[in-house]
Amino acid sequence: MAHQIRITPSILNADFNNLGAEIDRISVTSDLVHLDVMDNIFVPNFTFDFARAAEIISVSKLPVDAHLMVAEVDQIAPKYAEVGCASVTIHAEATFDIRSTLRAIRSNGARAALALKPKTPLEPYLEFLGELDMLLIMTVEPGFGGQKFMVDQLPKVAQARKEIGARAIWLQVDGGISLETIEAAAIAGADTFVAGSAVFNSPDPAQMVTILREKAQISSSLL
Ligand code: DX5
Ligand code: ZN
Repeated sequence: MAHQIRITPSILNADFNNLGAEIDRISVTSDLVHLDVMDNIFVPNFTFDFARAAEIISVSKLPVDAHLMVAEVDQIAPKYAEVGCASVTIHAEATFDIRSTLRAIRSNGARAALALKPKTPLEPYLEFLGELDMLLIMTVEPGFGGQKFMVDQLPKVAQARKEIGARAIWLQVDGGISLETIEAAAIAGADTFVAGSAVFNSPDPAQMVTILREKAQISSSLL
């Protein structure tokens, strides 16, 4: 069964001094913009604090998909929903109370999502599927853009697709998605694709989003 495909470009590789304009460059063809929030604790890299993220969210013409790579995420995550994110993703490895935090995100008006690092297995988190609007399977170690896609995560994507079954949960992949890797991820069952360097290192980011979408759609139609 073909899935509805969404492309959510990451601005991690965009010009940080000009993010409003960078988001405008992809807004015609993209579904959401993926905002990587890093605190230099959960991952060895820093991007934005909450105040700066809230500013970006307020100027974005695209709905914002916030990927929180921050330690002790439970307090801050609902605040991202409150300031207008369309979707807020917490890491399973960074929360002390998955269920309450996912519920707080939803009750503040955003889609609730859970991310798993490459070494984190899916099984222990299956009990939370009922709380989720999106599941993110990381296809690189979180922290940096431009890394190589981890092919060994594809079985986890396929397993997640099977477990999701008829539920209306988006299945997102993040890390190393490009013209070379998007087909394999779509065939494994992903329907929502983050792409950072593939989009922003291209001469025409908006067109790259369209090409990525077409490739994913063709692969998904084979399912
Ligand atoms: C990694 C981030 C990703 C990533 C995307 O920690 O979550 O969003 O930077 O960038 P590419 O597509 O270059 O891997
Ligand atoms: Zn991300």
